[in-house]
Amino acid sequence: MLIICINSLFMPIASSQDLYHEPHRPQIHFSPKEKWINDPNGMVYLNGVYHLFFQHYPDSSKWGPMHWGHAVSKDLIHWQQLPIALYPDSLGYIFSGSAVADKNNTSGLGIKGQIPLVAIFTSHDPNKKAEKSIGRENQSIAYSLDNGNTWVKYAANPVLKNPGITDFRDPKVMWYEPGKKWIMTLATKDRVTFYSSPNLKEWKKESDFGNDAGAHGGVWECPDLFPLDYNGKKIWVLIANINPGGPNKGSATQYFLGNFDGHQFTASSTNTKWIDYGPDDYAGITWSNTGDRKIFIGWMSNWMYANEVPTEKWRNALTIPRELKIKAIGKELFVVSEPVKELSGIATNPVAIEKLSIAKNMDLSKKIKDIQIPCRITISMEKTSDFSFTLSNDMQEEIKIGYDKSSNHYYIDRTKSGKTNFNKEFAAVHTAPRFTSNAKMDITLVIDLSSVELFADNGLTVMTSVFFPNKPYQQITVQSPGNLLLNKLEYTSLKSIWP
Ligand code: FRU
Repeated sequence: MLIICINSLFMPIASSQDLYHEPHRPQIHFSPKEKWINDPNGMVYLNGVYHLFFQHYPDSSKWGPMHWGHAVSKDLIHWQQLPIALYPDSLGYIFSGSAVADKNNTSGLGIKGQIPLVAIFTSHDPNKKAEKSIGRENQSIAYSLDNGNTWVKYAANPVLKNPGITDFRDPKVMWYEPGKKWIMTLATKDRVTFYSSPNLKEWKKESDFGNDAGAHGGVWECPDLFPLDYNGKKIWVLIANINPGGPNKGSATQYFLGNFDGHQFTASSTNTKWIDYGPDDYAGITWSNTGDRKIFIGWMSNWMYANEVPTEKWRNALTIPRELKIKAIGKELFVVSEPVKELSGIATNPVAIEKLSIAKNMDLSKKIKDIQIPCRITISMEKTSDFSFTLSNDMQEEIKIGYDKSSNHYYIDRTKSGKTNFNKEFAAVHTAPRFTSNAKMDITLVIDLSSVELFADNGLTVMTSVFFPNKPYQQITVQSPGNLLLNKLEYTSLKSIWP
C-alpha cells in the first residue's frame, strides 16, 4: 500500500486524460488548452516572437461570444498559450482580424522606444444581429505597448463604420510602402473591399473586387492581400475564404493572383483556385512583419460540423504553418504551400529507403522499426502511378490517402475512419485535382493523431482532413494496384510539442 502511495506521489502515472494528451488531441498542431477555437487572428512577428491570436470562446466547447485567445512561439511549432488578449465589449464580440507592427508610429499610439502592435478586428454586435439590424459589424482597433502581452482598446472605436452591408468583417491590414499608407482588405459579403489609411484610425474606401470572380457558393470571409516574389517579379495574392461553397463542400480558402496598385486589385485570371482542397483548412491568412517570407496558417475544421466534432475538453485546432510561394505550371501561376522548415525541428528517428518496390500492399512497419504517429512521410516516384497510404487500427477503422491516375485526382477517404456519425457530411471521400503532368511525383504527408495534411507535387495540391478513430491508428500500409516503385521513401517521427 505504502509503495503504491510513494509511487503515485513521485511518479504520477500519465493518464490518457492529462492536459494535451487526451484522446484525439493533436500532438504537433496548436489547439487551445481547453474550449472552443475557430479562425487564427492577428498573426504578427515581433522581436523574435510569432504571435498567434484566435477566435476563442473560453466558456464552452461550442462557438459563442468571441474573444481573441493568444499564444506565442519562437519556432511556429511549439506554442505557449497566454491569457486572453481581447474580451467582448459594449461594441460586441471580437470577431476576426489582423495585427500589425506600427514601426513608424503612424497611429501615434506608440511611446518612445516601443513599437506599438495594433490589432484591427471586427466588433460584431449580437444585439443588433438579434434585431436584424444591418449595421452590426464595424471595425475597431486595440494596441499593445508591451510586445503583445496586454492590450488597450482604442477609445474612439469603431474606426470604420458599417456603410449598410450585413457581412462587413475580418479586416486584414498591410503596409503599402509605395503609397506610404495602410491597406485594409475587408470581406464585404460577396466581395472584398479595399480601404486605405495613413494612421490606422481613419479609413477611406479605395475599390472592391470579386462580385463577378471566383466561387460564390457562400459568403466571403477572412481575406488577405500580399505580394510574393516570382523570378524577381511581384505577384499579388488575394485570399478570400468562403463558406459554404468549397470544392469539397462547406468552408474553404480560394485565392486570386494579379496586381495591386495601391487602389485596385486586378486579377490575371478569375478562375477559382484553392489553397487547400481538403475539407479542413479554413479562414487561413498569413503572418505580418515576416519580410519576404509568407507564412500561412488555417483553422483545421469546417463550419459544416465544427461544433460537433467528438472532442469535449477543447474543440478544433489549427493547421501546420505553411510557407507560400509562387510556381508556374506551363503559363499558369499557382500558390504552392509547404510545411514550414521549422517542422524538421521536432523530427526524430529519420529513415530513408531508396528504390522501394511495393507489390499490392506493404505494412511499413516491415521496413521501418518503431513506426509511430505523429510522423512525416515523404515519397518520390519517377513514374506517376496509383498509390494509397492507409492509416488503421485493429478495429477496422481507417483513413486512406492516395492518387487515382485514371481521374488524375488525389483523394482522402475517411468514410471508415472511426467516429463519423456526429454529422452526416463527415464520412466522405474528398478529391483534388493534380495540376502538373510531370511524370515524377512527390508527396509529403504530415500525420497527427487526428489529422492528415497532404502536400502533393511540392505543395501544388494540398488537402487537409481530420478524423476521430475510436482507438489511435497504429498501422501504416502502402497499397498499389500494380507494382509501385518508389525512388525514395523518407520517414520521420514527429515529437509532441506539448509537455
Ligand atoms: C470565419 C468567421 C469570420 C468571423 C468569425 C466569427 O470562420 O465566420 O467571418 O469573423 O468566424 O467567429
